[in-house]
Amino acid sequence: ELIEKNGYEHFMLKEIHEQPRSIKDSMRGRIYPLDGRVELGGLKEYAEKLKNIKRIIIVSCGTSWHAGLIAEYLFEKYARIPVEVEYASEFRYRNPIIDKSDLVIAISQSGETADTLAALSIAGLKGATLFGVCNVVGSSIPRMTHAGVYTHAGPEIGVASTKAFTSQVTVLTLMALYVAQQRDVLSKQKMQELLTELEKLPDLVETTLKCEDNVKKIAGIIKNANNCIFLGRGSAFPVALEGALKLKEISYIHAEGYPAAEMKHGPIALIDEQMPVVFIATNHSSYEKVISNIQEVKARKGMVISVISEGDLKVKAMSDHTIEIPVTNELLLPVLASIPLQLLAYHIAVMRNCNVDQPRNLAKSVTVE
Ligand code: G6P
Repeated sequence: ELIEKNGYEHFMLKEIHEQPRSIKDSMRGRIYPLDGRVELGGLKEYAEKLKNIKRIIIVSCGTSWHAGLIAEYLFEKYARIPVEVEYASEFRYRNPIIDKSDLVIAISQSGETADTLAALSIAGLKGATLFGVCNVVGSSIPRMTHAGVYTHAGPEIGVASTKAFTSQVTVLTLMALYVAQQRDVLSKQKMQELLTELEKLPDLVETTLKCEDNVKKIAGIIKNANNCIFLGRGSAFPVALEGALKLKEISYIHAEGYPAAEMKHGPIALIDEQMPVVFIATNHSSYEKVISNIQEVKARKGMVISVISEGDLKVKAMSDHTIEIPVTNELLLPVLASIPLQLLAYHIAVMRNCNVDQPRNLAKSVTVE
């Protein structure tokens, strides 16, 4: 075990630091920025069919469901196709309305989650096209789907998913652009521009990981909190959900993720001096809107921790603590903003003496209902 941890104290920390590499592996041989093309060998036979798909339904559980929610934003924005994201456990029991024109994508690190398998077989019986986005090669989901894309993140040992999640998001980003390409909804120039950005992702993740010392300091300040709220808008909303899930599963601090604007319909009642509120407040499409949400929290004396674009003095001035990530195209935001939240959960859990790699009551793969 010592050797496998490669000098890191926990598998989770090792896996967080492996992300520049795992993301590179997820993209290897799949993007051609100069030609403005994405190649996904596993979907080749279904490339034509993608032109006529009317709707995408994503089924998954846990962290993989969060990757699905991010994918919803990406598929709708870039491929202009309607997407629904479902908890597999709910989908399977409600006699879902699906037909041959639907594409169902199962996202699963293990490829073995019982609810996701059951959801897929129901969709298959109703005639949908089935795709898988899985990490474990040869697992059940890749065997029961028509086509798919492996994430190639490598084995993930920590129960709390980190590198498998960012690889899922990377692959789903590629899939969104691939579907856009098949349906001819983006210009070649736009594809070139987006893929040129995407190619930089592994290096930008490496740069982002340098926030660790700063994140550790913030972890020390909030480690005794009883509750924590994570807020974001757009594709940063599911990132907030995932940040909250990471914190609760490994540190046992109660945490909730919310769309920042929805805060006023409930969570705002919880805010006082004791409440850390983590904002994803990078300089992207809802920047000004998030700023007003920060002001609402500050007005109620909440402690604001903001993940910001490097050099953003405006949000820095209104936050109690900030964590900088590189300035990039919004396409890369979900992966980059996830990194500091993984580190925050990890360091808080270590400071609280929790069993980081094997949190109580949780399993890496849930193969029973
Ligand atoms: C368990 C794991 C989570 C994972 C979820 C779905 O709850 O602890 O990390 O996100 O199952 O697993 P899957 O293998 O389908 O992605």
